[in-house]
Amino acid sequence: MTSCRICGGTVQEFFDFGRQPVSDAFIDPNGGNTEFFYRLTVGHCTTCSMVQQLKEVPRDRMFPGDYPYRSSGSAVMRKHFAATADRFLATELVGEDPFYVEIGCNDGILLGAISRAGVRHLGVDPAESAVEVAREQGCRVRSCFFEEATGAEIRAAEGPAQLIFSANTISHIGYIESIFAGADALLAPGGAFVFEDRYLGDIVEHAYFDQIYDEHFYLFGVRSVQNMAQRFGFELVDVEHLPVHGGAMRYTTARAGERAPTPAVAEWLASEEKQRLAEPEVYTEFGARVEANCRALVELLTSLRAEGRSVVGYGATSKSATVTNYCGIGPDLIPFICDSTREKQGRLTPGARIPILPPDAFSDPYPDYALLFAWNHAEEVMAKEQAFREAGGRWILYVPDVHIV
Ligand code: SAM
Ligand code: TMP
Ligand code: ZN
Repeated sequence: MTSCRICGGTVQEFFDFGRQPVSDAFIDPNGGNTEFFYRLTVGHCTTCSMVQQLKEVPRDRMFPGDYPYRSSGSAVMRKHFAATADRFLATELVGEDPFYVEIGCNDGILLGAISRAGVRHLGVDPAESAVEVAREQGCRVRSCFFEEATGAEIRAAEGPAQLIFSANTISHIGYIESIFAGADALLAPGGAFVFEDRYLGDIVEHAYFDQIYDEHFYLFGVRSVQNMAQRFGFELVDVEHLPVHGGAMRYTTARAGERAPTPAVAEWLASEEKQRLAEPEVYTEFGARVEANCRALVELLTSLRAEGRSVVGYGATSKSATVTNYCGIGPDLIPFICDSTREKQGRLTPGARIPILPPDAFSDPYPDYALLFAWNHAEEVMAKEQAFREAGGRWILYVPDVHIV
């Protein structure tokens, strides 16, 4: 029996992906062979409804100084965060000398815009090499993990923050109580702690099982975030569904009683009731869909290989670690994955050890099929790779079910 990291309640396991590597720990083919593996299992708290993993990977293994993910690799995400910055500059960051703090700023995809607007800011992110890119754009960044003590230190050194923001990071942090304590220490009276992460409702509805990997320790929903905020002295006062990464939710929290909740909170709670997101049967059904999808994907790849068709992967995403390692897809079925991230090229994918090549390799020559691991960027990738389709190529997708387009 595992206790909930948020409320201490009982976590009921609903899926076991087995032995999995650290999803962003790409392997140097000339380096050593030691890899960290852990058991990736997910469950659902019967008290506060938070979906979470049962085992946790140490944070330094997931987010080392040379963490290879770069947020700015997608034009759609650059646009999304530029719009987010504009919104904050017009709403939360008004008044005299506002101060903005971002947890997990990575390469400065959003922080750069705040910096260019001349607003006082500070990014906090332990990924030293990513943070260098942010600094080159003029951003101020501390390369460390944000936690309770960090919030208090920043407050003492720079004063209170009107806005603390974090994208695709808070759900990665098992020790979330410490994050809220740090936010409480740092936030100005009336300020907001806003975060956005993949949305549980979308993951369940579309069987986006590969959104489950080491970094996504929690799968947030409106109800579970509302319970969590309340437990840590905050209140969920607004939610906004976002179309990025296959469906995300932006949660605005404030100290309890400081802001009136918008109707969107109650609307999304009602939507989750309708979707039965607090009920165990939903997760049993989800598990059955995952198994069926994975079986169908391996069958498809095996039969294409038997027919002599070429298939390569597109996008060495963290998500692909779950797919390849759970399904047992290695270089025999997918000889390589192409990816535009320089830091990933020339490496092997964790666990499955599929070589990663630059995008040029994709057209040299085009394969018959491309398995789109970066399905959350499908529109952007397919628009960029129109010549592949024109050459007769087809995309294979494995969510919400296995299909070819
Ligand atoms: N915000 C970016 C985005 O949305 O694309 C980056 C997301 S990336 C998946 C998560 C980032 O959070 C990494 O750069 C990682 O180093 C950072 N991170 C993880 N734990 C953190 C913590 N406790 N404090 C600050 N940053 C953290
Ligand atoms: P993400 O789904 O976690 O954002 O990761 C997307 C991965 O796909 C990242 O490694 C960059 C890669 N990618 C490409 O190779 N080409 C592209 O056009 C896009 C948008 C992403
Ligand atoms: Zn709980």
